[in-house]
Amino acid sequence: MSIIVKIDNYSFMCADDSMSLLEAIEDQGIDVEYQCRQGFCGLCRLKLVEGKVTYFDEPIAFIPENYILPCCCKTKEDIVIEGTVPKEKTSV
Ligand code: FES
Repeated sequence: MSIIVKIDNYSFMCADDSMSLLEAIEDQGIDVEYQCRQGFCGLCRLKLVEGKVTYFDEPIAFIPENYILPCCCKTKEDIVIEGTVPKEKTSV
């Protein structure tokens, strides 16, 4: 099953259930700030507008309401998140 991830005005299909949401976003050539990639630092935090994510392990970093840590989660449903997508990117 393919999942649609919408970030800014860009959307893409996310099919690989084994990769983190951060890896899926990076695969699209979209940069997200990160450091630990394990849920410790909170640097990769993005705002979740719609949908739900599932964490591989419960993150240590504080996560404000309506935010997610894409480095240590994946999604099983269509989601909308806020991020910064390069202007030259267009949706597939
Ligand atoms: S990169 Fe550190 S919590 Fe995601």
